Amino acid sequence: MERKKYVIIMAAGSGTRMGAGRPKQFLELEGKAILQKTMEVFLNACPGISVITVLPQDFIGYWREYCLENNFVCPQILVPGGITRFHSVRNALDRVPEGALVAVHDGVRPLLSEGLVRDMFEKAEGVPALIPVTPCVDTMKVLENKEGELVAVPGAKADRSVLYGAQTPQIFHSEILKEAYAMPYDTSFTDDASVVEKYGKSLSYVVGERLNIKITTQDDLLLARAILSVKSQDYSL
Ligand code: C5P
Repeated sequence: MERKKYVIIMAAGSGTRMGAGRPKQFLELEGKAILQKTMEVFLNACPGISVITVLPQDFIGYWREYCLENNFVCPQILVPGGITRFHSVRNALDRVPEGALVAVHDGVRPLLSEGLVRDMFEKAEGVPALIPVTPCVDTMKVLENKEGELVAVPGAKADRSVLYGAQTPQIFHSEILKEAYAMPYDTSFTDDASVVEKYGKSLSYVVGERLNIKITTQDDLLLARAILSVKSQDYSL
């Protein structure tokens, strides 16, 4: 039997790197909050999916008002975030039953395709953890920041041919993700895959999408606006 689908939308960050007055997930893209655009991709790809939105405690009322005022109809469980992304995911997992498929997705990645979401949910039925990755295109340097100066870490080399960047959504069998998140917090947990890997479960990978960027800085927002404007003109090379 198919597992029930859940998505946890991570939007409890403070967005300090953007330097805007409010967290970046609430800034506008094509007249809608970035968070709404992200959620619409999942709602369109998987009608009936259960949505859990993780928000800064102080913005839960704001988001309720936003949805009402903008006629954004989305049944969603609102959960307050924690001190780190790990703690935010853990809060949300309390609302997810065992035996489901649960996607964890950054609320500030609105540009993924509905096709990627559908394909990944289909593949995730057969593997405990499915992670989208894109091959590294830049030559990588291993450096450390010594009082503002970037210096090479002696002997450390990064072989680009084996380096990939991990994106979201990362999709898991919920019982495994819940067990993994019962472990104590570790600073090496930078995404859900790293938590599940430390718990000892193997990860499966699919090729993600280059345009599925995480809107973190003002440059990213500019890039997202440019991508959407080109897409709306149906421009092809
Ligand atoms: O900080 P970072 O860029 O890794 O955040 C990735 C995502 O996790 C963002 O969508 C952010 O809102 C979310 N987040 C969260 N709770 C935190 C920190 C980040 O939900 N405490």
